Amino acid sequence: MKKEIKKILVTGSVGQIGSELTLTLRKKYGAENVIATGRKTEPSKELRESGPFHFINVNDPASVEEMIKKYNIDTIIHMAAILSGVGEKNPMLCWDVNMNGTIVILNLAVQYEMARVIIPSSIAVWGPGTPAKAPQETALKPTTMYGVTKVAGELLADYYVKKFGLDSRGLRYPGIISSETMPGGGTTDYAVAIYYEAVKNKHYTCFVNEQTKLPMMYMPDCLKSTMDLMEAPFENLKHHNDFNVGSMSFDVKTLADSIKKYIPEFTINYEPDFRQAIADSWPDDVEDTAAREEWGWKPSYDLDSMTKDMLANLTEKHKKGLI
Ligand code: SER
Repeated sequence: MKKEIKKILVTGSVGQIGSELTLTLRKKYGAENVIATGRKTEPSKELRESGPFHFINVNDPASVEEMIKKYNIDTIIHMAAILSGVGEKNPMLCWDVNMNGTIVILNLAVQYEMARVIIPSSIAVWGPGTPAKAPQETALKPTTMYGVTKVAGELLADYYVKKFGLDSRGLRYPGIISSETMPGGGTTDYAVAIYYEAVKNKHYTCFVNEQTKLPMMYMPDCLKSTMDLMEAPFENLKHHNDFNVGSMSFDVKTLADSIKKYIPEFTINYEPDFRQAIADSWPDDVEDTAAREEWGWKPSYDLDSMTKDMLANLTEKHKKGLI
């Protein structure tokens, strides 16, 4: 296997995390060295104009292989996935994209002796009965198809580390909150939508109830965690594809109260839908000592500093008519 990260392929680059991660990687590794790819959704002008962009299908090995050969790729960051909400509406699509797409990436990574593969996991690996603060090592019994694919993806990637010596790494993202690209089809999406609606309409109708408490993270910390894990020395890692990463944890009422500090007229009401059961099956918080010890993980934002930043960014966008 190679060691050095020089030419990076990002799948799912048009998504919530992929879009910002690609731009961050381009700043660090050079615009021409980060190949952004997506399935169908048009990339933003910034993403398309800041470096190479191609449409591929991660379920079709030939279309991924074409990119690897064309650009001499040595690192794949596999962000393409179907999230929990869409996964419950269409479990077969979720299985197909998340499992078959992942094994395509892993097999090509072995074949082309990649320096590194990053495959994110999620708080969705846990299910009912998990302690409120999920330990690093605990039973993984999810009740969503998305969670099933994430558990299987972690195990599969760890198998490739052991069996083939592939340097694959992954972390269990909490709900990610950001002001650039909207998330699509997840359960934690309410924690992003609430900020957009607060700025645009001073009101939000939330699809989970006010006691719903989940682990969350602001995008700058998400990008930092991904880059830090990717760049950590392999010999320091005891875990590989299943790192817990904590940042903050709050219920919806606390989130709404944090927004009210800046927008006092903000109101919220609750109309829980099928995603309530998904949220209820996940833990409130995570215990992340392994990430802190093995690669120095340390988040920077808390709820109030995130709220201040989110509202400032979105108010600016709203003034420009962008949202
Ligand atoms: N944000 C994801 C979801 O809600 C969890 O990883 O599906």
